[in-house]
Amino acid sequence: MKKLIRNSLFIILLILLGCKNSSEGDKTKDSRVKTNQEEVKDYSDNKNDLTPLEQGLNFAMQTQKVLAENLIYEINTNGTVHAFTFCNAKAYTLTDSMALALNVQIKRVSDKPRNPNNKANKEEAAYITKSKEFLAKGENIKPEITETNGKMIGYYPIITNQICLQCHGNQDTEVLSETLLQIENLYPNDKAIGYKINELRGIWVVEMN
Ligand code: HEC
Repeated sequence: MKKLIRNSLFIILLILLGCKNSSEGDKTKDSRVKTNQEEVKDYSDNKNDLTPLEQGLNFAMQTQKVLAENLIYEINTNGTVHAFTFCNAKAYTLTDSMALALNVQIKRVSDKPRNPNNKANKEEAAYITKSKEFLAKGENIKPEITETNGKMIGYYPIITNQICLQCHGNQDTEVLSETLLQIENLYPNDKAIGYKINELRGIWVVEMN
């Protein structure tokens, strides 16, 4: 089990750092996640040439990286159950401070939210539905940007990997009973359970002026 966790940490780190992870079994599925990361890396040198879609992607990926680093640190040092409290208390603060630092508005939303505040609105839900159809057909999900009231709003997929399943996976086999207890206590209307890997857990929504 420890080994499994270590392996998944390694994989997620690779994904986040945008490295090629050729030892991973299913390359096609993996590439969906990695493409974005590689783009982020490539764009970092020529920020001024970025399209709004690419800028938004950069913002979302930077925030995701900070969240993931903190999550991994918490899981490694204090275990899943404590990490759960971290997600509960810190995910917002971190996302907010990243938004402040990057001077944009960023949020994570889902069609099946754990926290009801993270429920996707109509437009976001439409993008999620469309993206799920792409995934089901084995195609890549494309980030999207729209202009509403003079603001550019970018949508970027959040795909599950092994590490997510200890809190969002099968409740009988993957989520520990202590974790389930926390979910019940903190999120009585939780819908964010029962995921497998490479599923669309939600999206980043980046609002830029
Ligand atoms: C240690 C437990 C834990 C792990 C591991 C975890 N999450 Fe979560 N996740 C949570 C909690 C708790 C929330 C609710 C946070 C809040 O109140 O805003 C949440 C919320 C989210 C949300 C916001 C939408 C919603 O459901 O409220 C997304 C998206 C999300 N998680 C994706 C992921 C992904 C992707 C992974 C794996 C990379 C992951 N999570 C790993 C516990 C976890």
